[in-house]
Amino acid sequence: MYVCLCAAVTDRQIREVASQCAGGDFRTLCRNLGIAQQCGKCAPAVRLLFAGDHEPTGAPPPALG
Ligand code: FES
Repeated sequence: MYVCLCAAVTDRQIREVASQCAGGDFRTLCRNLGIAQQCGKCAPAVRLLFAGDHEPTGAPPPALG
């Protein structure tokens, strides 16, 4: 599914790059993929994907709200 429409980047691409740059930060991920650089509407979804890929295995998902 497309997460960033401005850059035409999918959740799969984000997960792939996030897993390759373990220890990297959110801004670097965005810069490398060109996401969240224009309208910014994708930033919250990208942040959730990024956080999910950096949780230890078996950790509960972050509480929302
Ligand atoms: S949807 Fe990602 S910057 Fe616009």
